[in-house]
Amino acid sequence: MNILRRGRLSAGQDEDIMNFTSSMEADTRIFEADIEVDRAHVVMLKEQGIIKNSDCSAILKGLEKIKNEGIGKLDTSYEDVHIALEARLIELVGEDTGGRMHSGRSRNDEVATCIRFTLRDELINIMAEIHDLVNTLAKTASKHHETLMPGFTHTQHAQPTTLAHHLLAHANAFLRDLGRIKGAYGRTNLNPLGAAAFASTGFPINRKRTTELLGFDSQLGNSMDAVSTRDFMIESLACYANLMTDLSRLAEELILWSSSEFGFIELDDSYTSTSSIMPQKKNPDMAELMRGKTGTVHGALVSVLTICKALPYSYNRDLQEATPHLWRATDTARSCVRMAEGMVRTAKIKKDRMKKASTVGFTTATELADTIVRETGIPFRTAHHIVGYVAKTGDMPALSDLDRLSLEIIGIKLSEKGLSEKSIINALDPMDNIKKRHITGGTAPEETKRQVTVINKELSSSKNELRKIRLNIEKASGKLEKTCQQYS
Ligand code: ARG
Repeated sequence: MNILRRGRLSAGQDEDIMNFTSSMEADTRIFEADIEVDRAHVVMLKEQGIIKNSDCSAILKGLEKIKNEGIGKLDTSYEDVHIALEARLIELVGEDTGGRMHSGRSRNDEVATCIRFTLRDELINIMAEIHDLVNTLAKTASKHHETLMPGFTHTQHAQPTTLAHHLLAHANAFLRDLGRIKGAYGRTNLNPLGAAAFASTGFPINRKRTTELLGFDSQLGNSMDAVSTRDFMIESLACYANLMTDLSRLAEELILWSSSEFGFIELDDSYTSTSSIMPQKKNPDMAELMRGKTGTVHGALVSVLTICKALPYSYNRDLQEATPHLWRATDTARSCVRMAEGMVRTAKIKKDRMKKASTVGFTTATELADTIVRETGIPFRTAHHIVGYVAKTGDMPALSDLDRLSLEIIGIKLSEKGLSEKSIINALDPMDNIKKRHITGGTAPEETKRQVTVINKELSSSKNELRKIRLNIEKASGKLEKTCQQYS
């Protein structure tokens, strides 16, 4: 007999309807969290004198057995893990005891608590993966402060840069992703338990106690908000979406760079596939999948936003439909960060190809125009005009070429205004370009070295923070475990 439907509802449901209604599949993600939430709730009920010591002890023992049996032992004809678990408990310890666990609680606050409890671990995990990725980018950059390459705008050769400068650009983006996830973590690790269906409860429960036992930073302050909102999910998904956009841009570059046209890198074999027909092929499939999975994660964000849009308060079953998107996006984003880290770490860098390409397309033209301005005092726009004219001919200009053109354009030779052959040679040297750009954020090796130092500092303080967060959770879980042992 279904313990939930037996009172109000009569007819059983056929399988098709049951499958439509059930969240059992996605609930595998929160099974363990549900046991922890149950344990904390039961401990608190006993301490508040809401249930007897003997009932608490029997329920805790029952929960222990259910935990060991695993979710597979639960009756899947129930619509979700919460009620299936309660049914199993009642089967084990009898209704007079097991039937008391759900006092002062609803599945509405229960499920919100379970999702937050599980998601916070996932956020910690993905933050740790981002640490690894940023670390690998910074480490690789450290070996390439002087590795010349062309920088691009519009996918056209633009100005020379270094591989360090380019990789650190990505590292900075991922550090911001990390910061956003940290913010999401703070708004996720809050306790909804005690909100019950939405109106809280008349039982004298102690929300502070479950907050403490479950390792939440604090409790949500309005019971209707607590069960109604999935904004913490949306926020995490938005963080993932941003992260995936950043990852897709890295993926795209790894794909381009490993093409014959670029030939800047060769990806490690393990991150590539071959063709079933073309025996010579080495394809960057992992990077392509990363690019593709971006769509999966963006889709998840849009799905959850749309599911929550215009939902009247408080709980509605629509919310159940949101959760699987969260887990799918979480797993996808996390695996992509890991793949990106491995691809960057193991890629072979073809320095010579990069260096050769660094001046193709007259990438030093900007520095030449800047040099003319500095040496002769003519306006930048005029220098831009003269150098642009030179670029059209495609040849690297000598002083005589520039003189001829400037005479034509502004009626005076640049050499007469102080431009020297030597300054032109310097301006056309890509390494000279790189070294001149030593202001904050620039390409100069001394500057990219400074950037690596800053990133490493941020990384180590972020790792410290994460260690503290983990410690807090471990402490709470140790306390809950100890209390359960004591009470059972
Ligand atoms: N499986 C449900 C969910 O994921 C749990 C809450 C069900 N509550 C209810 N009133 N039907 O949202």
